[in-house]
Amino acid sequence: MKTCFITGANSGIGIQAAIQIAAKGYHVIIGCRSLDRGEKALIEIKKESKSDAVELVQIDMSSKASVLKAVDAIKAKHEVLDVLIHNAAAFDISQKKPLQSADGIETIWATNHLGPVILTANLLPIIQKSEQGRVITIASKGLLIYPNLKVDLKDPEFNYRKFSVAKAYYQSKLAQIMFTYRLAEKQNENNITANCIRVTNVKIDIDRYPNVSAFMKWVYKHKSKFSISPTEMAETYTFLVTDPDLSAVTGKYFNEKNEIISSSKYSMNEDNIDNVMKLTHKYL
Ligand SMILES: NC(=O)c1ccc[n+]([C@@H]2O[C@H](COP(=O)([O-])OP(=O)(O)OC[C@H]3O[C@@H](n4cnc5c(N)ncnc54)[C@H](OP(=O)(O)O)[C@@H]3O)[C@@H](O)[C@H]2O)c1
Repeated sequence: MKTCFITGANSGIGIQAAIQIAAKGYHVIIGCRSLDRGEKALIEIKKESKSDAVELVQIDMSSKASVLKAVDAIKAKHEVLDVLIHNAAAFDISQKKPLQSADGIETIWATNHLGPVILTANLLPIIQKSEQGRVITIASKGLLIYPNLKVDLKDPEFNYRKFSVAKAYYQSKLAQIMFTYRLAEKQNENNITANCIRVTNVKIDIDRYPNVSAFMKWVYKHKSKFSISPTEMAETYTFLVTDPDLSAVTGKYFNEKNEIISSSKYSMNEDNIDNVMKLTHKYL
């Protein structure tokens, strides 16, 4: 039985992906920061997938210590990991000011970019033992609104420039695309693929964000009419996890129709990728 670890699988697309992947016969490990929400999700995933091969690991992607503890817990039970999906992400549209993680790093940068890089690096030894390992990262179609966006190499944490939750979020997603391309190059000879999904507008449970104003909730509900369901979006995750024809497809960017698409020119440039990964490694 192949094993798949997916972070942030207690809600939205993550929980639906966990159900679909478990139903396809994978042992699924869900990584959640709240044990309470994780336990509830575990029950739902087992029930909906009709599989008992689902387990929970606590992980806070914004904390290096928590990520390393989760890695230890996984390694203690599993010698091989076949698939790693970096689904968890922070994006609370009501956030007005930068927040600091337990490690003193701006939380969106820490959760959405640094956490996945640290998690991948520390799980690679057991992914390399898979017959064919797969690492899947998650970006966003919203990046199209910022075609000229770059990772701010001098101020990724918004210490000196004006904070915008959208800019912080899209910067972290851009960095994830670039990380994916570099990982794909580096792990090619180890039979590990790395691909990124461009998630489109997907309905979320807006009530999960207590500080979002009534007006923004109203706007969101109207916008949701043009969104797809978490279940539909999760089908692309499941496709990337399970499709045998993808065993040698790596360093690609996929949309919700399972088509290979292009990311921005900036994100594909090797010098830019070098610079973003040099910056990233300073944090590790
Ligand atoms: N929905 C969209 O329209 C959309 C568009 C583009 C991209 N995406 C991407 O799609 C992915 C899934 O999002 P979603 O739409 O399913 O939203 P969601 O329901 O809000 O799911 C986000 C998940 O990430 C978890 N998470 C947040 N911070 C965490 C942390 N520090 N450590 C561990 N887990 C953490 C959340 O757990 P808690 O319950 O503990 O908060 C939740 O389970 C994300 O990568 C998101 O950026 C979504």
